[in-house]
Amino acid sequence: MTLFEPLSGTPSALPGPAAGRYRELYDLLYSNGADAGPQAEVFLRQQMARAAELPCDLPEAPEQLSAWAQARCAAVAQDYAGYLEDRKQGGARRYFSNKAHALYFLQRVAPTKEVDGAWLAGVLEHWQDVRYDGLLNTYLEELGRGDPRQNHVVIYRNLLAAHDCGDKQGLADEYFVQGAIQLALGQCSDAFMPEVIGYNLGYEQLPLHLLISAYELRELGIDPYYFTLHVTIDNASSGHGHKAVESLLELLPMEQGRDEFFRRVAVGYRLNDLGKGSTAVIAGFELQREVIAMLERKRCFGQHMHSDFCQIEGKTVNQWLASPGQIEDFLAALEHKGWIKRNRSPQDSRFWRLIEGNTAAMFGVFSGYEKQLLHDWIAGDWHDPQRPKPIARDHSASDALDAGETHDPELIALRKNLSNQPPQQQLRTLIPWLSAQRHCRPAGLYATRRFIETVARLR
Ligand SMILES: [Fe+2]
Ligand SMILES: [Fe+2]
Repeated sequence: MTLFEPLSGTPSALPGPAAGRYRELYDLLYSNGADAGPQAEVFLRQQMARAAELPCDLPEAPEQLSAWAQARCAAVAQDYAGYLEDRKQGGARRYFSNKAHALYFLQRVAPTKEVDGAWLAGVLEHWQDVRYDGLLNTYLEELGRGDPRQNHVVIYRNLLAAHDCGDKQGLADEYFVQGAIQLALGQCSDAFMPEVIGYNLGYEQLPLHLLISAYELRELGIDPYYFTLHVTIDNASSGHGHKAVESLLELLPMEQGRDEFFRRVAVGYRLNDLGKGSTAVIAGFELQREVIAMLERKRCFGQHMHSDFCQIEGKTVNQWLASPGQIEDFLAALEHKGWIKRNRSPQDSRFWRLIEGNTAAMFGVFSGYEKQLLHDWIAGDWHDPQRPKPIARDHSASDALDAGETHDPELIALRKNLSNQPPQQQLRTLIPWLSAQRHCRPAGLYATRRFIETVARLR
């Protein structure tokens, strides 16, 4: 049985996959399980039919693309200047109401960011064809050319770990759409290269939200490096945005099939508009609702864990947690009893002191993100007089990784495997290690460096 039934009927009659299906497919493609290839193809055809119905802002002729990309970049720069001016005049943050809101965003775009670059995995096979160089270099840069400090997936994972917000359990299915598209494009590049090129063209143009996110994350004490890195790398004058246009022009057929190719590029371009975009994710945050949803998820684990000696408004904690739908009233009861004092420092709340600190009774019950939700909900309009600590980037972590590499069993096996292979065969061994699932592992990082060296030697 396939997760996604093959196309039939007119595109507009296509239903979206049933609930849970995007995530299921994402996991299947990520684990590269049996049947992943055919499933990816059926899924892509379905998404392309949806994308083809969306409006398109690409110019009519490919020759106009460079000017189009530059105009777009200039418009973003101007909008950003307007944003900065507004902030200088004392305007409020435009995106993140508080730190919990920012972590909410980081968590929900994680399924996409954790496969950053995956749509280009299929260009590795074309290393001999110089027309692919722009795309190949873009992909290798996504992988940090094998340096963990520059590998986009490693950087994003470290960011999630630093704020303990990497848990995907509570994420709705819609957050997996873009990641699944990226993985599927990487899997089926042979059949869909024009679409891959079009998708890349859309993804690598610098968006305004990236600039604003970076600015506001820093303000909230969150390292914006993943985002600032893309500001410098995805620009339209020399970066990935520029390479995207150049590669398209290189690979466009000279005569026959030119229009059809560009039509398919435009469909791939619009695949970027499916699923939930960054600004929609950000706009979807509502603090109280997230606090309640989080406690509701936790309820199942906590309902038998509390002692019965303390009652809150006539019920024990276990009774409050025994059935769904009581969280809002429970929080109100805690406020009533004075255990939660909103709109002041959370330290003044007994409930908060039970959660935060090494000696707190509920130490370790809540993740970093969950604590931030509770903290910001309690704090409300209270402002911490202490500004967030300035962010110092720590590079020593990757030195430790290098040291760890020597004992990594996968890496030892890969090295051994390569040792008596001729260069061409080495590349065939290496390429699977540069895939979305593997390139961020020690053996994948090594394979990326080795791939670059070997290609340079063979040219
Ligand atoms: Fe990236
Ligand atoms: Fe990029």
